Amino acid sequence: MSKAITLQEFIMDSQAEFPFVSGQLTRLLSDIGVAAKIVNHQVNRAGLAGILGQSGSQNAHNEDQQKLDVFADSTFMRILTAGKSVAGIGSEEQDDYILCHDHGKEGKYVVMIDPLDGSSNIDVNVSIGTIFSIYRRVTPLGAPLSDQDFLQQGTEQVVAGYILYGSSTMLVYTTGTGVNGFTMDPAIGEFFLSHPAMKFPETGMIYSINDALLDASPPAVQKFIGGCREAQGLGLKARYIGSLVTDFHRNLIKGGLYLYPSTKSNPEGKLRLMYECNPLAFIAQQAGGHAEDDSSNILDIQPTSLHQRSPFYVGSLNMIQGLRSCWMSTADPK
Ligand code: AHG
Ligand code: MN
Ligand code: MN
Repeated sequence: MSKAITLQEFIMDSQAEFPFVSGQLTRLLSDIGVAAKIVNHQVNRAGLAGILGQSGSQNAHNEDQQKLDVFADSTFMRILTAGKSVAGIGSEEQDDYILCHDHGKEGKYVVMIDPLDGSSNIDVNVSIGTIFSIYRRVTPLGAPLSDQDFLQQGTEQVVAGYILYGSSTMLVYTTGTGVNGFTMDPAIGEFFLSHPAMKFPETGMIYSINDALLDASPPAVQKFIGGCREAQGLGLKARYIGSLVTDFHRNLIKGGLYLYPSTKSNPEGKLRLMYECNPLAFIAQQAGGHAEDDSSNILDIQPTSLHQRSPFYVGSLNMIQGLRSCWMSTADPK
């Protein structure tokens, strides 16, 4: 029987295979694995640890923070700032970016993170996650970081990944050469390669949308969902958990499309470009899927602010194409 590959072994092997993966990036990925284990431990015992419920504070988006949002954010911050690889961090839970090591003068990389995705599912024991992406710094080493280091297009991502605290805990990531998934063995606290070379099935049969938004969504989205409903007899199904990372992961494995549309009252949608849309768009692209906003490839959007939001449609190519033809056949400006 062949020996299972651990996350650490996989990261080290990838470093040898791809010269651009420096020692700093290897250490950074390992640190994310460590932080994931700490957060996973708290998520698993949340009901016992007095860590359910609201923290009493609000985040940068004026959303009530849960205690686990705050715990996950401070854990990733503490571990990532302690290493030498990270110059700065942008977090969904922080008003502004955080500079490490003397105003970000050291460290080759910038991290963007949604420390706890699916906060509304924490208290009801439903799967939640962490989403992250890593960029190379733009300003030279030795100079303080500035806005341009954080406001990079999704095409510039070096790594994107997520951790899913589900019925098992998984870490899924890409360095731009495919997508690999690792499952944690809770008995020994180690991630093992369980899902090599993950690919969106070519034909998706699942659509994932908050149905309550549909009437306020663009006509193209309404038309697409109408078509899905009509195809129910062919096996089309609606599945929506309300944790983006979980909905994305299911659709990646089974084939489907996740939609968080623009609406009349929220023309930019709800999801955050830097912490949610870009990382999942990069993973989708690497897994043979695709991600768009109302008019273009998510990865091509030039961000103008750290916390900007974007409509988000991500998943299997055939369903993206179906949505595209709906944009073309309705009056929407696409
Ligand atoms: P977060 O918990 O990081 O704030 O993200 C919540 C997001 C996403 O996970 C989920 O898909 C979406 O919000 C659900 O929004 P609705 O409740 O509007 O459907
Ligand atoms: Mn989120
Ligand atoms: Mn979050």
